[in-house]
Amino acid sequence: MANQVYKPNPAMKPSPHLGSMKEYEKMYKRSIESPEEFWQDIAKQFHWETPPTGKFCSYNFDVTKGPISIKWMEGATTNICYNLLDRNVRKGMGDKIAFYWAGNDPEDYSRLTYKKLLIQVCKFANVLKEKGVTKGDRVAIYMPMILETVVAMLACARIGAVHSVVFAGFSSDSLAERLIDAKAKVLVTADGVWRGEKLLCLKEICDAAMDRSKKLGHEVESCILVKHLPRLSAFQSRDGDGKVNDAEKSPEKRKAYDYQVPWNEDRDCWWDDEMDDASSSCYPVWVSAEDPLFLLYTSGSTGKPKGVVHTTGGYLIYAATTFKYVFDYHPGDVYWCTADVGWITGHTYVVYGPLANGATSVLFEGLPFHPHNGRYWEIVEQYNVNQFYTAPTAIRALMKFGDGPVKKYKLDSLRVLGSVGEPINAEAWLWYYNVVGGGKCSIVDTFWQTETGGHVLTPLPGCTPMKPGSATFPFFGVLPVLLDEKGKEIEGPGEGYLVFRRPWPGIMRTINGNHQRFEATYFQKFPGFYTSGDGARRDEDGYLWITGRMDDMLNVSGHLLSTAEVEGALSEHPSVSEAAVVARPHPVKGECLHCFISTKDGVQFSPKLVDDLRKKVREKIGPFAAPEYIQHAPALPKTRSGKIVRRILKKVALNDRSLGDISTLADESIIENLFANLPGKDLKT
Ligand code: PRX
Repeated sequence: MANQVYKPNPAMKPSPHLGSMKEYEKMYKRSIESPEEFWQDIAKQFHWETPPTGKFCSYNFDVTKGPISIKWMEGATTNICYNLLDRNVRKGMGDKIAFYWAGNDPEDYSRLTYKKLLIQVCKFANVLKEKGVTKGDRVAIYMPMILETVVAMLACARIGAVHSVVFAGFSSDSLAERLIDAKAKVLVTADGVWRGEKLLCLKEICDAAMDRSKKLGHEVESCILVKHLPRLSAFQSRDGDGKVNDAEKSPEKRKAYDYQVPWNEDRDCWWDDEMDDASSSCYPVWVSAEDPLFLLYTSGSTGKPKGVVHTTGGYLIYAATTFKYVFDYHPGDVYWCTADVGWITGHTYVVYGPLANGATSVLFEGLPFHPHNGRYWEIVEQYNVNQFYTAPTAIRALMKFGDGPVKKYKLDSLRVLGSVGEPINAEAWLWYYNVVGGGKCSIVDTFWQTETGGHVLTPLPGCTPMKPGSATFPFFGVLPVLLDEKGKEIEGPGEGYLVFRRPWPGIMRTINGNHQRFEATYFQKFPGFYTSGDGARRDEDGYLWITGRMDDMLNVSGHLLSTAEVEGALSEHPSVSEAAVVARPHPVKGECLHCFISTKDGVQFSPKLVDDLRKKVREKIGPFAAPEYIQHAPALPKTRSGKIVRRILKKVALNDRSLGDISTLADESIIENLFANLPGKDLKT
């Protein structure tokens, strides 16, 4: 039952870091009343080459009082890579496994200890230096989920370079846009990768992106490639003797075998060739706590992605602390986050948070359904995973196969089950809790954003009584507030804009090259607050429930997209005169895209056009953004001043005729046509 409260399992072993709400409340109170001392104490476990010179935290959140600024530990110097690797090796954890790597096919796996990871990182840091990369330079990373991806990120951090990881599901146009905006000097990628049965030729996408970037005025100097395909079982014969058995290979595998990586002598080099000659020691570059660590692009409501900038010191302590408490990580545990490193979850909870805690994690390259629907559970059993972190969209997709594939595996090791990226519906929550967790695990429904750097609202395992679908209460140092449209604070139960009153150490600092946009996007609407863009409801017990985006953003399978971004892609098609995009509920993806298309005079709306438009969005943004529904709209509902009324389109997409007041429309008669042409209206959404 959705409104029921699920108490944490009192028999949880080892005992959780926080065993009761009383303990949480005490610690939370201290984090709010004395934030500087609270975080200072936490910072002590890490290495600071020099201490802060000024205040531990200084900030301005009020645009009316001057520029927005957020600083933690100003003047302190450190190196995050040193803290993640050298510090743990020095503590005697050199032989501890940092990552178990599980490939797309179960035959492909490996592991890496902290000591070996450090050596690889030092070597690659020297490779980057060899390529002319120095402190502050930007390095783009477009990679599969392989160990080299982590190595590349930490190598950047070691020398003070700023990484910009781009999810390897983005198209070449999207990658080019990000290469240009970041002014990336080097691009690190791989020859290709298998996603399930599909081969992705990453280098071809990178070449197209680098060509486009060059045409638009920015030239990437070097491209370093991991030779990934030849070492995989999919590339070799299944009988394991290293010889390729032609008869066994599918056309896709044949393609992989014949795949000749396109090459530019002046720019490209193989990772292994460079690593062969590189020294395995590399002294870390001490950077300021407020020096940038990475850029990560997220969708913006203008359609142009924003390069979210995270800095070093605050991000380190926030990633480390949220990881420890939210997953209740104890030494010896095996933790697994299924997120791709291309998203913020992969940054904070695949790389930085776990390594800062000296954790052992699983790094998974594949898909939940390949080669069978029980792949996730097979991995949990194989590695005795204690904490498992995934997205509601994956849970809903797996639920469709029933309990059978879960029940086949021994999942007793699980203690904490995490959810992230979108609201989790009660049905999925309960299935996760009962079937996957056997009714004994804590579910942590973690609400946060690329911008927040780490969890901001979340239950704590063994501590917070859970309500299915509620992100519950704030993490330490986080002060959420609900505001109404006029900016008036809502006390007690109610619903409004979710904003935050003050910074926590892991919050973003600016948007790459555009501080003004940073201020306008997050601080203008309600001076004095960081505006998340989400709405939330507070119930009678003080629990917070995220109600969804309050702006023109869509959340498809946990990936944020702006309507403007998709409309921009559709409008580029020569047959389109106008496009409007709205969100429509989807049983697995959470939300999907519903596009209304007006064609140019004389152009027929045809199935071919629908295919072309889908292709266009895949090319411009990436396959994950491909629209589910595309419908012809001879005319769009507009106000007399010509503004598209999305409210009406949302109703049409839902086949909901309770349109409310439509008297402001320039032409009401067009609406009937939209309902008549509605695709998929007989489907249950
Ligand atoms: O709308 C919220 C939703 O995802 C948005 C952030 O997306 P992104 O920056 O891509 O980061 C995703 C991973 C942290 C939020 O503005 N969201 C994220 N987590 C939740 C959520 N909505 C409801 N419940 C959550 N737990």
